Parts: sequence; C-alpha cells; structure tokens
Amino acid sequence: MANKYNFDKEIDRRQTHSYKWNIPNNYISLSIADTDFMVADEIQKAIIERAKNPTYGYTFVPDEYYEAYINWWKRHHNVTFKKEWFCFSTSIVASIDSIIKRLSNPNDGVCVLSPNYNVFYDCIKNNNRKIIEVPFDYKDYQYSINWELLEKGLIQSKIFIHCNPHNPFGKIYSEEENNLIIELCKKYDVYILSDEIHCDLDYNENRYVPMARCNHYDKLITLLSPGKVFNLAGLHSSVVVIEDKDIRELIEKGLGEDDVGEPSYFSIEPVVAAYNECEEYVKEENEYIKENKAFLKEFFDKNGLNLKIIDGSCTYLLWIDISNYSRDSEDFAKRFKEEENIIVIDGKHYHEFYSSFIRINIATQKKNIIHLCESLKKFLSK
Ligand SMILES: Cc1ncc(COP(=O)(O)O)c(C=O)c1O
Repeated sequence: MANKYNFDKEIDRRQTHSYKWNIPNNYISLSIADTDFMVADEIQKAIIERAKNPTYGYTFVPDEYYEAYINWWKRHHNVTFKKEWFCFSTSIVASIDSIIKRLSNPNDGVCVLSPNYNVFYDCIKNNNRKIIEVPFDYKDYQYSINWELLEKGLIQSKIFIHCNPHNPFGKIYSEEENNLIIELCKKYDVYILSDEIHCDLDYNENRYVPMARCNHYDKLITLLSPGKVFNLAGLHSSVVVIEDKDIRELIEKGLGEDDVGEPSYFSIEPVVAAYNECEEYVKEENEYIKENKAFLKEFFDKNGLNLKIIDGSCTYLLWIDISNYSRDSEDFAKRFKEEENIIVIDGKHYHEFYSSFIRINIATQKKNIIHLCESLKKFLSK
C-alpha cells in the first residue's frame, strides 16, 4: 500500500533559523536531535487554523491536551495516567532543571548512567549538584548496566535521571531492568526522573516499557514530550506526570516559579492533533528510520568499513564506535567536516571518555544517508 507521508521530501530548513542547518549551503548536518522530516499534514493544519485567529495572547492548558497524552499512552503503551497527575512544562530540559532544584540541595548527588544525554550533566552542574556518573559496562560493542556500580551510585544520590529509552545508543530497557532500577531507588530513597522523550521512535517494535507501568513507586516522575517523534521541539510543549499529590504540588509550583509552566499560543492544538490523528505518521517514520539504518549497516558491511554501530533498537541517533580508525573523535569529526562537508557529533561532546565514538542523526532523507556512506568510504580510505 502506498505511504501516506513522504519522508523523502526535502524541506529547506536553512530558511527557518534551524540550529542544525545554520551552515553553508554545500554542507550537510547530521547533528542536533531533530528530524528533517516534514511534520504530518494534520499538525501543520492545526497550526494554520490556530494562526488564523490573529490574537496571540496568553494561553491556558485545556483538558483535551492532557486527554490526548492519556489516550496515546493507553493505546500504544498500555499505561493509564490520570488527568490530575499532569503538569505542563515548556520542555523536558526545563523540567529536569526545575525538578533538580526542588528535590535536592546544593552538593547533593544526582546519578546518571554513562554515556548519556549530555544536557543532563549541564542541568546537574548548573545547579551545583554532584554528578554521580555510573558507566555502563562496554564489551563486544555492547553496553550493559553494571548493577553493583549503579547501587554504589544511588547510595550517594538524591535523584536518578533515567533516559528510557536511552540516548545516545537507543537502548530499550526491559521491564525487569526498569523494576530493578525502581527497587534500588526505593532502597536508597532516591527520586526517579524518567525522561521518555524517545519512546515512540521504537522502530523494531521492541516495545519500550514506561516506568509508570512497572513496580509502583511514589517517587517516580515521568517526563513526556511529542518533540522528537513528531518533530515539534520548537513548539516548546511537554508534560511532567506525577501520581503523588504532595510531590506534584511542589513540582508544579516550581515550574511556575521558574516560568516554564505555561504554554505558548502554539503549544496546544498541534500536540492534540499529533496524538489524536497521527498514528500512521509514526509508523511510517519508524519504518523509514529503520530502512536508513539497515542501508547504513549493509553499506558498512559490503564495503568493509570497520565502524561499529552500537546495537540499539530505538531513536534515530546512532552511536558509532570509530576506534578501528581513530581514538580522537574531535579530530575525526573536524576532518570529516573539512574534507567531506558533513557535520556529525563528536563523542567527546557527551563526555571526554567517549573520544572513540561519534553520533550520527539518521532522521534525514535517504539521499543524505547515501551521500554520508559514500563520503565515509572515501574519507576512511585515505
Ligand atoms: C533524552 C533527551 N531528553 C531531552 C531532550 C530535549 O528535550 P526538550 O527539547 O524537550 O528539552 C533531548 C534532545 O535531544 C534528549 O535526547
């Protein structure tokens, strides 16, 4: 059957003040984590309809916004949230920053598995909390949790930031792993901030497990957003979900004090349209990303490129071990940019430890992936 959406269609993002595409015309960017795909027509229509009313004033969050999340998570992820558990927040990072302030004190530990989304580190550092970093075990190009180290980390921490599924290598945590994390956090009285922003980019249908569907824990805070999967990050629209009333009231007050608890004029209708009307978009997008990844892997194999894609099954970010060619990712990324005009993320951007890795965003048109492959082949043969 013909696809409804055209992910091959190129959009000139240079005209939109795009962070990712603020580069010269002859360059390609595979860097910042948004997609080059056109949003679903239903979303664009919702924005246009909203814009037609020419009064762009202060806005409240109507029930239908939360109901759209509730119904999506019920249909897709078999979890039941209640409307009163939700707080609006402009973004996941704003929520994490605000919540760290409310649930810990300066010098308290905040624990993260590593490698992990680099902005978590900034949120912890900027609030003068201690980063308690727990490295994954890394063997045969695969990561796994070192439970002993995690327990040691949690003993020293007030908060654990869980990236579920995981940025940068797309790990889907099993229910068993999530339950073990919850039980350890219970044991040491640690709050869990579960950032689930990548959850719908589950292209192998490996089925992400929401923390809210696992063992019950009062100190669980779930962060959700349509930003990645529907390409809406620039709309600044997300939610914090907390069942416990006292914790929720504290956090909601904090989001207000930090001035990140109110929507923009365009934060509501496009998100409602996304969750209520765009199932097919997500299916086709995931199929497209899966094909891009399969193409890349096959090209590497067929052409003997000894780059190792770390095996994950979620999200459009690929974490690639380049150690067979270089242990200086900064130099690798710089030379690749200079010689091939392609921008990728240097692993050291995540942490100085990761100088044998690069990160590539494959949520782009297939033609860019083909160009990337040919360029890598040329670059690595020099
Ligand atoms: C794990 C993770 N959380 C949060 C964000 C950013 O979300 P927001 O734009 O809602 O702050 C990103 C963006 O790359 C991410 O990968």
